[in-house]
Amino acid sequence: MKTARLGETDIEIGRLAFGCWRFADAAETTPHERIETAISLGMNLIDTADIYGFTTPVPGSDSDGFGGAEVMLGRVIKDVPHLRSKMILATKGGIRPPMPYNSSLEYLTEALEASLRRLKTDYIDLYQIHRPDLLTSFEELARSLGYMVESGKVRHVGVSNFTNDQFRALSKYMDVPLVSRQPQASLWFHNPIMDGTLDLCQEFKAVPLAWSPLARGQIATGHAVNSEDQLKLNAVISAIDELAQTHSATRTQIALAFLLHHPAGIVPIIGTQKPKRLTEAAGALDIQLSAREWYSLLEARLGQRMP
Ligand SMILES: NC(=O)c1ccc[n+]([C@@H]2O[C@H](COP(=O)([O-])OP(=O)(O)OC[C@H]3O[C@@H](n4cnc5c(N)ncnc54)[C@H](OP(=O)(O)O)[C@@H]3O)[C@@H](O)[C@H]2O)c1
Repeated sequence: MKTARLGETDIEIGRLAFGCWRFADAAETTPHERIETAISLGMNLIDTADIYGFTTPVPGSDSDGFGGAEVMLGRVIKDVPHLRSKMILATKGGIRPPMPYNSSLEYLTEALEASLRRLKTDYIDLYQIHRPDLLTSFEELARSLGYMVESGKVRHVGVSNFTNDQFRALSKYMDVPLVSRQPQASLWFHNPIMDGTLDLCQEFKAVPLAWSPLARGQIATGHAVNSEDQLKLNAVISAIDELAQTHSATRTQIALAFLLHHPAGIVPIIGTQKPKRLTEAAGALDIQLSAREWYSLLEARLGQRMP
């Protein structure tokens, strides 16, 4: 697998990552199988969050759902210890229902300890703030993230779903760099390409980890979640399918190749829980789109030619 760096660190990550949002809900294959497949394909960055699994209590654990995906990943780490050293383990905290967001020093300190316990590890490679807490100052958040790194329990820190202004404001107070951002990004949810998110990633040398790179599967299936989007989605799908034919590739592969082609070095977080589809996703790395093809895809999404 082609690799990238986690920000300006010496940590090498695959150009595709594996996501655990749906980890606790997928029953067709074992968690071991999915993690082993992802790692064998070079998807060594494993992205999870304490909130993942929230609606699915994990049998045999005291998790009421919250922390469920971490519990399951922790079992894999305990049962197959050699996998831990092959993983760049990334988790997130800061959402704790019924509170929408909490990034206070007190809360994050507890949240990190709980994640470590569930994941059965004594360090996390990348701790990310899941969503910005509008009631915690950037100064306090920077202090919390700094303590995490100082304690040795976290190697690096990043943020998810922060606006550009929030990223800049937080950066101003940080003693350690923010090595990653995690925006929703796909050919369907294309805002990060246009709104400065990816530009700021290049400026700050933070790796963009793209969540829902297939727009929660909508690009793969061609079915829009909101029926009023269907016509626009159809236009995107037909542009993708045309290129899929040219490159003898699948729709998923072209959609991922579109993200991979951007100079910010986007690392799509692959969401499927099916080993076969993970292998299909890895095939995206062999596709080289031309600049004209890349712009054609973007133009199909915009519904107009570039100005
Ligand atoms: N930071 C955040 O706020 C945030 C939010 C959401 C997600 N994330 C991260 O991003 C990761 C990916 O998100 P996502 O799951 O929405 O990603 P996605 O890749 O956009 O969507 C994956 C979904 O599409 C389905 N799918 C249907 N046909 C498919 C095909 N041919 N190929 C591949 N998938 C197909 C998958 O089902 P099958 O499993 O049945 O294949 C799965 O339900 C998450 O696991 C999480 O780590 C972060």
